[in-house]
Amino acid sequence: MDLEIRTIAEHELEAWVRANEAAFGADADPDDVAREREVTELDRAFATLDGEEIVGTAAAYSFRMRVPGGADVPTAGVTMVGVKPSHRRRGINTAMMRRLLEQARERREPLAALFSSEGPIYGRFGYGMATLQGSIDLERAYAAFVPSYRPTGRVRLRSFEEAVPTLVEVYAHARVERPGAIELDERHMRYAFHGHGEEKRLPFFVAVHGTDGRPDGYAVYKVKHEWPKGIPGNELMLYDLQATTPQAYADLWRFVLDVDLIRHVTAWDRPADEPLLHLLADPRRLRLTLRDGLWVRLVDVPAALEARGYAAAGRLVLEVRDAFCPWNDGRFALDAGGDAARCLRTDEPPDLVLAVDALAAAYLGGVRLHDLWRAGRIEAAAPGALELGDRMLATTAAPWCPMAF
Ligand SMILES: CC(C)(COP(=O)(O)OP(=O)(O)OC[C@H]1O[C@@H](n2cnc3c(N)ncnc32)[C@H](O)[C@@H]1OP(=O)(O)O)[C@@H](O)C(=O)NCCC(=O)NCCS
Repeated sequence: MDLEIRTIAEHELEAWVRANEAAFGADADPDDVAREREVTELDRAFATLDGEEIVGTAAAYSFRMRVPGGADVPTAGVTMVGVKPSHRRRGINTAMMRRLLEQARERREPLAALFSSEGPIYGRFGYGMATLQGSIDLERAYAAFVPSYRPTGRVRLRSFEEAVPTLVEVYAHARVERPGAIELDERHMRYAFHGHGEEKRLPFFVAVHGTDGRPDGYAVYKVKHEWPKGIPGNELMLYDLQATTPQAYADLWRFVLDVDLIRHVTAWDRPADEPLLHLLADPRRLRLTLRDGLWVRLVDVPAALEARGYAAAGRLVLEVRDAFCPWNDGRFALDAGGDAARCLRTDEPPDLVLAVDALAAAYLGGVRLHDLWRAGRIEAAAPGALELGDRMLATTAAPWCPMAF
């Protein structure tokens, strides 16, 4: 079988999108193709061709991602990964993943990140589960808040089109405290809210919260209707809720939980440390379930480690194993003593020995080195190294990437 991997030309975009949808057992309508056209970077959109036919797809967006310490680091946002069922398990995806990472390295992006359709796909390529995301399913009847809550702000309902500039502005402020949050311009914000399948046809509602006339939070949702025996059993599907103050956060949740004719409120990409848990009088009813969120890859280990900030000063020698990107393989001395961290190759004995996917899991501060060690994923070669590492990597907010791409 003669296969070719290359980037696509503009006129191939529709066939490329359709090939990707076919890998997912779906088809693309003209709307989906237009959506991809808006954001696809052709020099980062790879296809695998069998003759004239596109049988595999993979691409990257040029994002910047918040990392602990407050920097926004160039990141390859890997997306559109698919191989048609006729060509699966022949190494096509492996070859495309290699091309994407080599390209990210050439472009000096220290990080790559993605959301995965299934858990086991990307660990072998050095991606680690760096954020946990929470899904919730809360019955409105059990959604009372703790007695100390006092509503204050004003909430206005807006159409999606009216609200887009506000979403971009509020999101830009809200993401500042969240490692893992990618930067979004208006194009990518629209893309993130495009939706799939049946749900795509339902209208969006946007609740905008304002304090002193300035927007400081929003909630984006749709309502799925169900009226068994004439009794309203509707589901409010929360797509996003962002706020820049605790008051706006609480008021927006109260708004969402008080919409009439709703039986339950669901959301599937919430932070692992969702404060709503502490606002509800009966937190058990939130039914918060955690799963893998953003998978992160350190494309360039020393550059990635130097790009983030550290909660405690310290020096650690890391022995990193990276078979997929051998340029990362080896020992590095990470020194987070002064203003900026330094990370240089060394031949000193290691304090910690770990595969690059385990390091990536810990990178955003959401997964403790201790937990990885307990899972047998890290070898602690020097006493106190795990404790020091966890103090250095700690963050105040759990990492979270609110927008899937
Ligand atoms: C996931 C997908 C892209 C893999 O493509 P592929 O070309 O078959 O992958 P490869 O042949 O390169 O597989 C490499 C390895 O990953 C494993 N693998 C691939 N997909 C896997 C999956 N879904 N679950 C578990 N392991 C998987 C293979 O078994 C193989 O392992 P091996 O090296 O030990 O034999 C393809 O199956 C697909 O398109 N699936 C449906 C759409 C989808 O889920 N896309 C991913 C979106 S994030």
